[in-house]
Amino acid sequence: MIVEPIRWQEGRLTIIDQTLLPGELRYIKLDTVADVWHAIKRLSVRGAPAIGCTAAYGVLVGLRERAPESVDEAYAALAEICDYLDASRPTAVNLGWALRSMRAAADASRGGVDSIADLEQALESEADRIFEENFELCRAIGDHGADVIPDGAGVLTHCNTGPLATGGEGTALSCVIRAHAAGKQLRVYADETRPLLQGARLTAWEMQQAGIPVTLICDNTAAVVLREGKINVAIVGADRIAANGDAANKIGTYGAAVLCHHHGVPFYVAAPYTTFDLSIASGADIPIEYRDPDEVTCGFGPRTAPADIDVYTPAFDVTPAELITGIITEYGILYPPFTESIREAAERREREAGGTAAVPG
Ligand code: MRU
Repeated sequence: MIVEPIRWQEGRLTIIDQTLLPGELRYIKLDTVADVWHAIKRLSVRGAPAIGCTAAYGVLVGLRERAPESVDEAYAALAEICDYLDASRPTAVNLGWALRSMRAAADASRGGVDSIADLEQALESEADRIFEENFELCRAIGDHGADVIPDGAGVLTHCNTGPLATGGEGTALSCVIRAHAAGKQLRVYADETRPLLQGARLTAWEMQQAGIPVTLICDNTAAVVLREGKINVAIVGADRIAANGDAANKIGTYGAAVLCHHHGVPFYVAAPYTTFDLSIASGADIPIEYRDPDEVTCGFGPRTAPADIDVYTPAFDVTPAELITGIITEYGILYPPFTESIREAAERREREAGGTAAVPG
């Protein structure tokens, strides 16, 4: 049984407040668009696909809050709500993708919309579609990615890429979950993921819930477990993948990739098409979020650094494509040269969607 981090029931948006895990599993209601913005910003809901799904439903929350008096007013409000939500976090391209999909659905329905209720119906269908598709994408990624995990493997992972991060089974962790469900013996080595401890608080918790063997390690222990031969494969998620395969993910991912390269351990990135940004040629153009220094110096209570210390706070880094063995997608595993394999996958998606695919970028 996997957790449901996002619920849309009877027109109300509810999420698990992930900042409280693992101590407390609490659902909170997001009744205003500002609630949605802040929930994304403070990481009550986080993980690239989950942010996209939340924002999609957040558009409906915002529209109902604004209570427009005409259809034209509703379309104008919709544009403002999308721009507002899009500014909550910069790195995960899934956010902008979901909001563009919502606007495209509204635009497509424009001729046939007689009332605000019709527009809301079109938007709700699109948000449901995004959410349900995400579920299928996770499952397909897991089925392909399970193949790269040998029986008896140690699997290194970073940050959190499971149900909490996606609303489905996950991306990198879906590979683990499917491999485990297929009967493979494995052990996850979860980087704790400083400074906000998504690995310790969320991945370790999810793996325990799922009954999958997991060992928590400090980020700076990864080199040792690799040298000790405990790791056979590393699989991480991504927040944005450029056209050449450079992949942004939680700060520390790049370091893990360098370590895997040094130790000859394959390093995979797992992500759905909604995480690719083909408008960006390389990782140099991926916008990186910088967060509040307090998250480093006193993120969980007591201050662990001097007051007024200078702190450098990128929340993401970019792993260069040459350190990535393969990118696990819903279509299968893409291999280098990534510029070609990513382009081919995008073209396939366009064809299968009949030319209507909202390919990021
Ligand atoms: O800051 P976060 O917790 O939103 O960062 C999340 C990650 O970096 C995940 O690895 C990424 O979004 C992939 S989630 C399937």
